[in-house]
Amino acid sequence: MPIDVSAAVIANRPLSADYNVLALAAPAIATATAPGQFVMVKAGRGHDPLLRRPFSVFEVLRDASGAPTGISILSKRIGASTSLIYDAQPGDELACLGPLGRPFAIVEPPAEAWMIAGGVGLAPFATLAEALHARGVRTTLFYGARRAEELFYLDFFRRLNVELVLTTEDGSAGERGRIVAPLDRRLADRPASAPVTIYACGPEGMLAAAAQTAAKHGRPCQVSVERIMGCGLGGCYSCVIPMRGDDGRFHHVRSCIAGPVLMGDEIKWD
Ligand SMILES: Cc1cc2nc3c(=O)[nH]c(=O)nc-3n(C[C@H](O)[C@H](O)[C@H](O)COP(=O)(O)OP(=O)(O)OC[C@H]3O[C@@H](n4cnc5c(N)ncnc54)[C@H](O)[C@@H]3O)c2cc1C
Ligand code: FES
Repeated sequence: MPIDVSAAVIANRPLSADYNVLALAAPAIATATAPGQFVMVKAGRGHDPLLRRPFSVFEVLRDASGAPTGISILSKRIGASTSLIYDAQPGDELACLGPLGRPFAIVEPPAEAWMIAGGVGLAPFATLAEALHARGVRTTLFYGARRAEELFYLDFFRRLNVELVLTTEDGSAGERGRIVAPLDRRLADRPASAPVTIYACGPEGMLAAAAQTAAKHGRPCQVSVERIMGCGLGGCYSCVIPMRGDDGRFHHVRSCIAGPVLMGDEIKWD
């Protein structure tokens, strides 16, 4: 069952002019969260914005004994709520409902995990990388951003022995271009007998390209989709996405409860 709390802001760490990490005191949500799940956050007190907004759980925060104390969210400022989240102050209280949605299915060795992140699509991969590390799964992060200054938390992933493959659109770090290009090359070089599972999160065009590239090489691909979500609980149908059903036909499913993690080869990409 999701938990609804009034979560105090513990810290707000700006990463750039648009990105920040907001730490929230929410021990019960932190304890229940699995990698890939999300929370619905109401950023303001009044009626504007009226609705909560969905955010992946970025980190599970722990005290010195390892007990969960809260969560953080990695937010990119694009509108009303994310602007309020960017400006939030320690001590502010935000309504926070979660954990919600279906998490990633986590592989075991000898399978390798290749995480594909575009921009703020990095958010679900910090907790996933920790879970993979705990299982001893060899993990690679393919991470694309517009420019070098928008590649965040690289040392966090390095500390978990995650191999980094970086791209930027302006060529200021890593390879110039889109992140699916090195994914395609590496999959082509990979023997079919070596199991790899792809995990992807980012803009929908990137998700479609990652899913299609994985399918081309016969690899399973779990994607975390980011449709607009009004409730996060299955009640409003704002988040539907066409998926192939057992009958081979496409049906609209509510990505907040069937997902956000879905199999990429079952989605009908536009
Ligand atoms: C499951 C899930 C997890 C998410 N995790 C994160 C996260 O970890 N960090 C993060 O920064 N964002 C995340 N998002 C996206 C985030 O919810 C939106 O950026 C946020 O709702 C925008 O709210 P706003 O009030 O600032 O913008 P609004 O004023 O509501 O919208 C500004 C503009 O952005 C568009 N927009 C709004 N929501 C989305 C969306 N989901 N996808 C594409 N365009 C959108 C609107 O149509 C509008 O044009 C996630 C979305 C989903 C569904
Ligand atoms: S967000 Fe309301 S049904 Fe999915």
